[in-house]
Amino acid sequence: MVQDKREQPIGIFDSGIGGLTVAQAITHVLPEEQLIYFGDTAHLPYGDKSTAAIQAYAVKICDLLIRQRCKLILIACNSASAAAYELVKEYVGSKAHVLNVIDPVIAYIGETYPAKTIGLIGTKQTVNSNVYRKKVDELDRNINLKSVATPLLAAMIEEGFFNDSISESVIEAYLSDPELEGIEALILGCTHYPLIRKQIEKFYARKVDVLDASQIVAAHVKQTLEKLHMASAHLVGDHKFYVSDFTRSFEESTRIFFKRKVHLEHYPLWE
Ligand code: DGL
Repeated sequence: MVQDKREQPIGIFDSGIGGLTVAQAITHVLPEEQLIYFGDTAHLPYGDKSTAAIQAYAVKICDLLIRQRCKLILIACNSASAAAYELVKEYVGSKAHVLNVIDPVIAYIGETYPAKTIGLIGTKQTVNSNVYRKKVDELDRNINLKSVATPLLAAMIEEGFFNDSISESVIEAYLSDPELEGIEALILGCTHYPLIRKQIEKFYARKVDVLDASQIVAAHVKQTLEKLHMASAHLVGDHKFYVSDFTRSFEESTRIFFKRKVHLEHYPLWE
């Protein structure tokens, strides 16, 4: 029996479990969609990896998501979106629709902040790739982008340090960087950062808009499925969560990112 395309799952991948913040936001706006999540925990963090390495991982993960008949693949990792989106899009071709977590945010700031100064924080891979800067410049909306790599933040959150004094000091140290002076909005350019959004808002005393990319991306996925007439009308199966390296601590941490603990299945893509 040929499955109705609309009932095929959405594939989501990330370097680890941080992308669950995006998956969570998607379940809110698209409750009828089945999700297949892949966290490449064997290779995390992507933020310090080379572009070539991330591209090789991404292609292999897409093979799995295509085998799982995903109608849409979302690269739910800023570092992988920066390093591998163009390649993945070409590789996947017509087998699935490919989205990344950067373009929806760029479109949003283009509409909301023309001629303003905007900040970006993310991993070294994301910031040093200059992808955000190039895309902002292509908008041609006179937006001045100031970016700072904040590599400690993802590891800090994964270790459970958020909403406490340790994370407050680290956040303050990074955001006090003179590069970020005078910004009107700050892009949280990493899947982990929605967890420290409130602390960042507090740091700026709500004078700077703090942009939670997971919500912007989830809204974009919804729009895209509707535009392509590919949105599911009813949930056809349970979500599935795979990781390339399983540890109990990853499974425990899913609670932080997905707001509930999920069962992680070990899927060793690299054996
Ligand atoms: N998921 C990654 C991102 O959004 C952060 C963690 C990593 O470095 O792998 O950039």
